[in-house]
Amino acid sequence: MCGIVGYIGPREAGDLLVSGLRRLEYRGYDSAGVAVVNGALDVRKKEGKVDELAKLLDARPVSGTVGVGHTRWATHGPPNDVNAHPHEASDGSFAIIHNGIIENYGAIKKRLIEKGYTFESETDTEVLAHFIEDVQNEADLSFPEAVRQALTQVDGAYGIVGISRDDPDMLVVARNGSPLLLGIGDGEYFIGSDASPFIEYTRNVVYLSDGEMAVVRRDGYKVFQIDGAPVSKEVHALEWDLEEIEKGGYEHFMLKEIMEQPHSVADAMRGRVHPQEGQIRLGGLQKVLPQLVEAERIVICACGTSWHAGLAGEYLIEALARVPVEVEYASEFRYRNPVLTERDVVIVISQSGETADTLAAVRQAQGAGCLAVGLVNAVGSTIARETDAGVYLHAGPEIGVASTKAFTAQVAVLAQIALLLGAERGVLSQDEVRRHAEALAAIPAQIQTVLDGEEQIRRMARDYRYASNFLYLGRGANFPVALEGALKLKEISYIHAEGYPAAEMKHGPIALIDQFMPVVFIATRDATYEKVVSNIEEVAARGGTVIAITDEGNRDLDALAEYVVEVPKTIDALEPLLTVIPLQLLSYHIAVMRGADVDQPRNLAKSVTVE
Ligand code: AGP
Ligand code: GLU
Repeated sequence: MCGIVGYIGPREAGDLLVSGLRRLEYRGYDSAGVAVVNGALDVRKKEGKVDELAKLLDARPVSGTVGVGHTRWATHGPPNDVNAHPHEASDGSFAIIHNGIIENYGAIKKRLIEKGYTFESETDTEVLAHFIEDVQNEADLSFPEAVRQALTQVDGAYGIVGISRDDPDMLVVARNGSPLLLGIGDGEYFIGSDASPFIEYTRNVVYLSDGEMAVVRRDGYKVFQIDGAPVSKEVHALEWDLEEIEKGGYEHFMLKEIMEQPHSVADAMRGRVHPQEGQIRLGGLQKVLPQLVEAERIVICACGTSWHAGLAGEYLIEALARVPVEVEYASEFRYRNPVLTERDVVIVISQSGETADTLAAVRQAQGAGCLAVGLVNAVGSTIARETDAGVYLHAGPEIGVASTKAFTAQVAVLAQIALLLGAERGVLSQDEVRRHAEALAAIPAQIQTVLDGEEQIRRMARDYRYASNFLYLGRGANFPVALEGALKLKEISYIHAEGYPAAEMKHGPIALIDQFMPVVFIATRDATYEKVVSNIEEVAARGGTVIAITDEGNRDLDALAEYVVEVPKTIDALEPLLTVIPLQLLSYHIAVMRGADVDQPRNLAKSVTVE
């Protein structure tokens, strides 16, 4: 989630911060800003690219040798000048920048408004700024101590850097869930979301861990835990070059984003899934919930991977909320004059929020008097703005053209919507909601378990990288995963691949079976497992090459499949969140071994903003 830069030392901070922000551009962002202290606190911030900020600074320069810079990937409040960071205390005495999500910002904001605080922006970060100010004023605390005490009452993910007008030779840093590191220079110190902003000045870094803070002054730094206990930290000498740093040390953005999924799925649920209370809270749907609950039908419209997520959503919503769901390609929906009534709700899914066909589906739905709900990753994107309500994915910028973490975030949000509707419609008891919420809350760690098995997938890729065709087969909630696995493979390795419902194989595709075509079965022990095993036997009996994705401990398929990949057991309708992971890795490693341009596959764009 975007970028943070900080500096304290002998150099002019302004230019250094801007060039540091440019180094973080790869992380995707929608606005940027800096703050520099030199007696006063000078803040400059602007929607758009870092170039826009640079132009603003050309017109209104800042001067000083202590400062912070931020590139924002909005989560609360659309991208605009006011919502851009840094955010200041009411009296301008300090400024903070923040990467992440303050989960309990709503409750804090309510209390602050009752105390008379006013807000300029819609962000959770400004709430944190005024909360720190309030804590400081209430007990006449130093800025670092006010930050520390405020953070002990904050829930959520953050990487924060603050500077103070009244204590100007200092940076206050805190990390919990969003990356932050210190660059240890010669008489100067740097802060970064990664080392790219300062790698040419120093390769000596201190990695802050979650729950740690640092106070950095001109002559040194102290690291301590949020509870105040001092911490001694090792200084590491970085070996990476700039490009490796941008990709987090991974060879491609796609692999970085596959590996980020334990965090991105957790962020998609942050502040929304409450297992102990057996509750799902989706603030973005609050104002339209009655209409959603009363819906006679839900029509899901999307394209590509997002359409596959929509199919998984159909299984989730019909299973958990018993609402009829139809899933449509947005490109078909917009032209076939669909029969819609005002009792229908249209849910559109889009990572970019700019896909032309999906945007057209929104307008088609609204033209028919339907409520249009958006599941979007890019805050403030066109689809996010035009839909009547929505739920942001909070997956962070997805740079690789092949969508991975957006898919799992979309399915995770659809699962939350299904549970919310199931509870509101009285289909699910609170215990059932609690059980499903607990299963959802376990998913990030279970994804990590699957990712830990990457080496087996790499071996599989080596065995099958020369295949000309693949078949992906699954039933129930895993049918959409079969489609998604096939799409991932074909779009980055250029190998022809098809996804089918496993039972459909005998209606045609079985004629394709031979030992040269790997057949990937998603065969977890769910309601249709025995049927899938029969399909596997049909393929094996014809000399086909079987790869099976199944749940851990299942040895039934060892004799039938060349490879058996195990994933942790979860609720049937949540299985796509786990069974898709090996298929993402398989397509990635095959594409790399075939020398394909993994992050920018030929003929493809990250967002198809044309018809
Ligand atoms: C998926 O890997 C592709 N990049 C593509 O199918 C993509 O999912 C589709 O273009 C929809 O994009 P959106 O989610 O941004 O609307
Ligand atoms: N939640 C904050 C906002 O929406 C920070 C987002 C980010 O990580 O850039 O402004």
